[in-house]
Amino acid sequence: MAATEPHADPRTTPVRLDGPVPEGDEILTPLYTTEQHETWKLLYARQRLLLPGRADDDYLAGLARMQFPDDRIPSLRDCSATLTRATGWRVARVPGLLREEDFFACLARRVFPSTDYIRSRAEMDYTPAPDLFHDVFGHMPMITHRAFADFYQRLGAAALAARGDDRRRLERFYWFTVEFGLIRTQRGLRIYGNGILSSYAEVRHSLTDAVEKLPFDADRIAEQDYDVWHLQPLLFVIDSFEQLAHGFDHWARRRGLARPD
Ligand SMILES: [Fe+2]
Repeated sequence: MAATEPHADPRTTPVRLDGPVPEGDEILTPLYTTEQHETWKLLYARQRLLLPGRADDDYLAGLARMQFPDDRIPSLRDCSATLTRATGWRVARVPGLLREEDFFACLARRVFPSTDYIRSRAEMDYTPAPDLFHDVFGHMPMITHRAFADFYQRLGAAALAARGDDRRRLERFYWFTVEFGLIRTQRGLRIYGNGILSSYAEVRHSLTDAVEKLPFDADRIAEQDYDVWHLQPLLFVIDSFEQLAHGFDHWARRRGLARPD
């Protein structure tokens, strides 16, 4: 990621949802230009080349399951249908970066809010606001994974209910797991964090010795600050998604942040 100043781009200002947004079959697909489809094609091809030996197998299985077209932008409606079949999640089409309340309220309902615009050709390596390549390619494959999808909903529900410093702790948890998590496998460290997997620079950076890697520790994560504007210098490594889910649940219960089912 390039160093860019916070809020230098109006797209980084969260939008408030004033009413229902289209979900699942209600989502209409925009008329994308040939250049926009070509941007997806380039991003998708480049990122897929990087992933073998770096991305977690569960993410790669999810990527195969999503069956994204390689030559045009996927329709959010099709993506939603795939997620629903896999884990009962749906996609909602949202106009941009959401306010935290609205974002976590979606997750708590097993709804993934996705944008449907793609970055410009000048932003291939970095975009200050998440676009559909981040939302679709980065996030959706992991939502086909049962344990991850269930954890993701519980994280959203806990964050929705939290206030003040606890909300901030859950945002950190979100950052260091959903967006920037690593996992230890029998074949070495792999990436499952969606923010890394959708970023060309972060995929190449995150497994190198330039990054300090700490074992998963919910208490430590909850207090660990981060900077969204630079390549990440510190990441946390889980041993399994079960460890992630149990570790989160235990931590959230201990702090009174877990919602009753
Ligand atoms: Fe994200």
